[in-house]
Amino acid sequence: MNPETHLDGLRRQARDEPESGIVEIFNYGRNRDGIIPLWVGEGNLATPGFICDAARDSMLAGETFYTYQRGIPPLREALARYHERIHGRGFDPENFFVTQSGMQAIQLVIQAIAGNGDEVVMPSPAWPNYPAPLRLHGVGPVAVPMTMDEGRWHLDLDRLFDACTGRTRAIFINSPGNPTGWTASCEEILAIRDFARERGLWVVGDEVYSRFYYGPPRGSRMVAPSLHEICEPGERIIWIDTFSKNWAMTGWRIGWIIAPKELGQVLENLIQYNTSGVAQFMQRAGIVALEQGEAFVQEQVARARRSRDRVAAALSGSPRVSFALPQGAFYLFFRVEGETDTRAFAKRIVDEIAVGFAPGTAFGPGGEEFLRLCFARSQESLEAAMERFVPWLEK
Ligand SMILES: Cc1ncc(COP(=O)(O)O)c(C=O)c1O
Repeated sequence: MNPETHLDGLRRQARDEPESGIVEIFNYGRNRDGIIPLWVGEGNLATPGFICDAARDSMLAGETFYTYQRGIPPLREALARYHERIHGRGFDPENFFVTQSGMQAIQLVIQAIAGNGDEVVMPSPAWPNYPAPLRLHGVGPVAVPMTMDEGRWHLDLDRLFDACTGRTRAIFINSPGNPTGWTASCEEILAIRDFARERGLWVVGDEVYSRFYYGPPRGSRMVAPSLHEICEPGERIIWIDTFSKNWAMTGWRIGWIIAPKELGQVLENLIQYNTSGVAQFMQRAGIVALEQGEAFVQEQVARARRSRDRVAAALSGSPRVSFALPQGAFYLFFRVEGETDTRAFAKRIVDEIAVGFAPGTAFGPGGEEFLRLCFARSQESLEAAMERFVPWLEK
C-alpha cells in the first residue's frame, strides 16, 4: 500500500481536525532561548509535597491494582465534603465520578449526551478543547460570540437561546471562563437553567476555575456564582471539574464529573470502555489535596489576584492595548490595536522578544483579535514579560 494514502483511510473527523492553536505556538516557541511561557493554562508551582507523598505511600503500600470505575469510595466522599464546604449545601458521593482529567470528563460527557448530527451551543471565545472533541464525535459546536465593551465581556442570552434548535442537546457554560475570565452572574445562570429546563436540554457547567474568583465577595461562599446554587433534584445539569488548577496538579490527569445519580451505570460503563478507571494512588493523593490543601488553594488564588492586577497595570501602560479585567480564572485576554492576525503576531512576539502568548484565533468566534496570557506564573516571569512586551509594542 502507498503510505501516502494512509490518511485517506482515516475517519474524516479525525483526519480533518486542525492542530490546537495554543499547542501550535507552544511547539513553535518552546525551545527558544530565554522564552517566558505564558501560553498554556497552568501555574509554575509544582504539586505540594504532601500531595505527592500520599501517592507514593499508596503505591508503596501496594495500591497498584485495578480499582473502582466510578472512583474509590473515600475519594467520592471527600469530593462531596469539599463541595459542601465551598458551596455551603449538601452533596451526595453518589453524584461523583472520578475521571482521568477534566478533559476526559468533557469527553465522557459528550459521549453520554451527543452524537452524529447533534449540536452543542456555547458562548465564545471558548477553550478549543470543547469544539474539537465535539467535532470528533460528529457533533456540531455552535459558538455564540460574546462582546467586550466598557471593560466587560457580555453574553447576550437572547442570542444564546436563539442559537438552540431542535438539534441542540446541551448548552456548555464555562464560568469563570477560559480565555476571557467572563464570570456568569447568578441571574444569568438562573436564566440559562430555566431555558434549558423548559427545552429539556442538558447544561454542562465547566467550573474548573470556580475557586479563582475575583468578583464581589459572596458571604461565606468561597467560589464564583455556580450552577450548584440553583440546582434542584432532577435537574439536567452535569459538571466538569479537575484537580489540575486548584492544587497545581496539571500533569497528574485527574478530575471528576458531577451528574445525576441516574446516569451512574452509563458513566461507569463509559469509564470502563475508555480508560477503565483512574490509578488508585492518584485518587489517594486527590483525597489529601481536598482535605489538606485548602491553604494552598487560597494562597494560589491570592497570588493570582495580585498577578492579575500587576499585569493589568503593566498592559494599561500601552495605549494600544485593551482588555476586560477578568473576574475569574487566570488569563488576561487582550487586544492590540492594529494587530488582527494574532496567529502571526504571537509568532512574531516569540521571535522578537521571546514571550509566549496564546493567539486568540485558537478560541473561536469573537476572540480572533486577542492574545491570551496566563498570569498564574511567578512574579519575576510576569514582570520580565511585561518589561519586554510593553515597550516593544510602542516601537
Ligand atoms: C475551561 C477548562 N476546562 C477544563 C480544563 C481541563 O483541565 P484538565 O484536563 O487539566 O483537568 C481546562 C484546562 O485548561 C480548562 O481550561
